[in-house]
Amino acid sequence: MKNTVSPSNLSSKLTRGILLEKKFITRSIIKMRIANEEIVDLIQPGQFINIRVADSFSPLLRRPFSVFRVNKGENWFEILFQIIGKGTQLLADTQIGAEVDLLGPLGNGFVIPKKLDFAVLVAGGLGIAPLLVLTQELKKTNIPTILFWGNRTKDAFTIVSDFEKLGVKVFLATDDGSFGFNGTVTELLNTTVENIKKSTVEIFTCGPNPMLKTLKKISINNNIPCQISLETQMACGFGVCMGCNVTSKMDSEQYKYVCQHGPVFDSWEIEPGD
Ligand SMILES: Cc1cc2nc3c(=O)[nH]c(=O)nc-3n(C[C@H](O)[C@H](O)[C@H](O)COP(=O)(O)OP(=O)(O)OC[C@H]3O[C@@H](n4cnc5c(N)ncnc54)[C@H](O)[C@@H]3O)c2cc1C
Ligand code: FES
Repeated sequence: MKNTVSPSNLSSKLTRGILLEKKFITRSIIKMRIANEEIVDLIQPGQFINIRVADSFSPLLRRPFSVFRVNKGENWFEILFQIIGKGTQLLADTQIGAEVDLLGPLGNGFVIPKKLDFAVLVAGGLGIAPLLVLTQELKKTNIPTILFWGNRTKDAFTIVSDFEKLGVKVFLATDDGSFGFNGTVTELLNTTVENIKKSTVEIFTCGPNPMLKTLKKISINNNIPCQISLETQMACGFGVCMGCNVTSKMDSEQYKYVCQHGPVFDSWEIEPGD
């Protein structure tokens, strides 16, 4: 179900959370736990939240993050992010117990088909972030799940156990061969795609655009439906600035906007950028 947001209903999505916990997964990847009932109640796997990373006007714009995991019983959710610039550094510096200004949930989410033999999750790097909350949802419907995850090196793989605890069968790849399959995650998927396509499966994916482009080809060539979550750079985050456009493959329109029509798209709907 698409859940697009218009500027007029944004105020209902403004909320505050309390930073409960932060944990360094690697030197630059952090998992943060935030207490907030509204997000936990409303979030659909694949949706994102916009976080105001500083009380000052620098940086002015909020930063978008996927929800990594939710705990409804304890009213907290987690995000998993990499420090790549000023905004993510400021967020990483937030003190435990501080208030965090949140806008969300925003965008649409993954759609879980009713009939599915198993779900195939494919992640590149931090594209893993929206896939654990999806796994939580798949677990509720007892859909068996396998994960293919590729990284440059093995550093971030410590969170694999979060997937394994939910019964996911995990296949790993590293570009430098330091762990698992030596090569890209799409090369790894290709080694087994002939077996996968014999069942009713769907691919759910997030990662860098070159990976998504290859995966789109694999899914089309093998006739496997594929839902892609895009992480383009965003400015406003709610469909006004048109800064998050992606080429649309639908005859009626040239572009789609990731914050408004996405971030999750059926692979045939869009062409990931370079
Ligand atoms: C829907 C959505 C969900 C996201 N979820 C996550 C998540 O769960 N975890 C996570 O780590 N990141 C996620 N991102 C990316 C995250 O929002 C950016 O890393 C963050 O906004 C960077 O802010 P910054 O101020 O630190 O960096 P900036 O100073 O804004 O940028 C630093 C450098 O990174 C580049 N850059 C910034 N954003 C992106 C981007 N989206 N893609 C490619 N290059 C970029 C800039 O061009 C610049 O070179 C998501 C993005 C979107 C749109
Ligand atoms: S970020 Fe402004 S329209 Fe999407």
